[in-house]
Amino acid sequence: MRWSWCGIATVFTLVFAVVEAPRLHAQATQYADKPPLLVGAAWYPEQWPEPQWDKDLALMEAAHIDVVRVGEFAWSTMEPAEGQYDFGWLDRAIADAAKHHICVVLGTPTAAPPDWLTTKYPETLRMDENGVRDEHGNRQQFSFTDPLYRKFAHDIAEQMAIHFGHNPDVVGWQLDNEYANPSFDPTAKAQFHAWLAKKYGTIDNLNHHWATAYWSQTYDNFDEIPVREDGENPALLLEWKRFVSDTWRSYSENQIAAIRPHADPRQFITTNTMGWFDGFNEYTVHAVLDMAAWDDYIDSDHYDFIDNGARHDLTRGFRMKDFWVMETEPAFVNWRRTNTPLEKGQVRDMAWQAIGHGANTVEYWQWRSAPNGQEEYHGVLVGADGTPVPVYYEIQQVGKEFAEAGPAIAGTSPHSEVALVNDYDSRWAIDFQRHSAAFDPVTEMLAFYAPLREQSQAVDIVSIDTPLDAYKVVELPALNVISQAMADRLMAYVRQGGHLLLGPRTGMKDEYNALQPERQPGPLVDFLGGRVDQFYALDANVPVSGELGDGTANIWAEQLSVQSAETKVLLRYGKSNGWLDDQPAVITRAVGRGTITYVGAWLDAGTMSRLTQQLLQEAGVQPIVAGVPEGVEVCRRSNAEKSVLILINHNTEDEHVALPEPMRELIGKQGTVSSVDLPGYGVAVLELQK
Ligand code: GLA
Ligand code: GLA
Repeated sequence: MRWSWCGIATVFTLVFAVVEAPRLHAQATQYADKPPLLVGAAWYPEQWPEPQWDKDLALMEAAHIDVVRVGEFAWSTMEPAEGQYDFGWLDRAIADAAKHHICVVLGTPTAAPPDWLTTKYPETLRMDENGVRDEHGNRQQFSFTDPLYRKFAHDIAEQMAIHFGHNPDVVGWQLDNEYANPSFDPTAKAQFHAWLAKKYGTIDNLNHHWATAYWSQTYDNFDEIPVREDGENPALLLEWKRFVSDTWRSYSENQIAAIRPHADPRQFITTNTMGWFDGFNEYTVHAVLDMAAWDDYIDSDHYDFIDNGARHDLTRGFRMKDFWVMETEPAFVNWRRTNTPLEKGQVRDMAWQAIGHGANTVEYWQWRSAPNGQEEYHGVLVGADGTPVPVYYEIQQVGKEFAEAGPAIAGTSPHSEVALVNDYDSRWAIDFQRHSAAFDPVTEMLAFYAPLREQSQAVDIVSIDTPLDAYKVVELPALNVISQAMADRLMAYVRQGGHLLLGPRTGMKDEYNALQPERQPGPLVDFLGGRVDQFYALDANVPVSGELGDGTANIWAEQLSVQSAETKVLLRYGKSNGWLDDQPAVITRAVGRGTITYVGAWLDAGTMSRLTQQLLQEAGVQPIVAGVPEGVEVCRRSNAEKSVLILINHNTEDEHVALPEPMRELIGKQGTVSSVDLPGYGVAVLELQK
């Protein structure tokens, strides 16, 4: 009965779509009957009596909420006993949501296995580095390598897909939840050893690349290799991270293989990631996902729009296309030391920043406080009592505005002429051996990102494997691990006219995390016409001066030397530890119309800004809107037909922005304007007709 009903509904939808099309452009989803931009919330119907659902859903609809993510922690409700599935409640929850014009993303519940599973099969539980098994309770207590766990995960995902794969209100799938912790159980170790054997072929080959004569590490067999996350040979540590990355990919593939054959091809499959988190290589895992999605929680006690924008750009780079914010905070979380709230207006500011950087959906975690559980203090839209909390009304405004501006934004994406390379191998390699505790690879990357973002107003954060030809400027803040193939691609990029900027520690290691046979930047030394003679950790400012003005270096300084008459010194160190005095700190060489520049020091923000300015000027990169006040962010989304600007005033004071030409406001008054006045945390969304 249910199936025929579904069939009739589908036919009706198709006929309706033919008559009405094109009503809306698919954007956030592949479903043309869903709005192009979505506001959503994490909803846990399994925590509430069914008669209460409708009141929640009515409040959601009134807040213009279009999507709920459901199910990602509901394994014990979906499969209360081994092999006994109960999806009736979820059918009813989805149908109730649909009555309120709310569609659904289904989470596979594998981040929280039910008690019957881990009790009967304790080998599915993860083991820490010291061999201690996790126990039931909390979440993420499973072993990501365990074949039996994979079988249970496959089965629940398959059953869900058979049941919901053609439900027209289910627009996509989230696998698991925030992949994070590897396991060090005997199966994981055996799989790591097999992975190494496949990669290296012989143990002698491994001994050679790892230089295991050092400290008598020489191995006779692959299964003797220890497994630890720190304190070991850097080659071993790097390979373990790569193995963990491949394992999370196969963990995903296991569930994708269960879902895809039963799912409408329009349903996306993704997982929710965590910004700068580097427990595995996101590019490796995203190779098998349809789209990227991330959980946007601010990284410190107060909103830093540069860092937050960078994390959006990072996430967009995982699949090089638009993405979802699968979770974000409704003003505050419960897991920081001091859970200060976002200020009034900043929730809306953040929502529009997400859209500006290429998100098509912003979902709040969570809709309603659970009656109990570890997160009772977390921000919500509705209290456990079922009535709105103050931030509900700000999110309601966001929902209204997404609906207003959505049709104009449909089909557009951010585009950038500059790229910043995020490289997990290099971040790990530096983290294993920081040498200066303050050398945090992400902080260093942000020191390069901030002036690029401010001056070009659009930055792609990409993997080193991304084609670079389309970019006028490419920056590698610290490509510590470099292969000959990478170096060849970078040289080709410069030869065809690209402007390449290398940061400190670039080109030090080969792909086995061994020192390069040449000094830094390794295979680029001859091309650059210069090299690093020595590196030094710093704990005080060192002056720098030259063509780029006066400034300082701190944390890290490399003493450079120049070997080619064509290589120019842009900055030199002033008096400091003797070694650095008067030595080159930044050098550059023109190659045809391109340039290669090596920055040997962690420079102050002013000097980075001037360096960036010079580079962008040489490369002919212009800002999208010139002369905007500091703290006002400009984002552009465009396609061949249209262009939409999103201006966000991250300051508390009012700001005025003159527009390059008259534009139509898409939210608020919606007239044509040639300038905008933005109150503190104010947003303008403007359309430019091409
Ligand atoms: C100790 C050890 C050496 C070496 C140095 C490094 O002295 O004996 O093998 O590790 O530290 O400073
Ligand atoms: C993460 C998890 C959610 C929730 C939030 C709270 O993002 O995915 O289940 O715990 O944190 O901030």
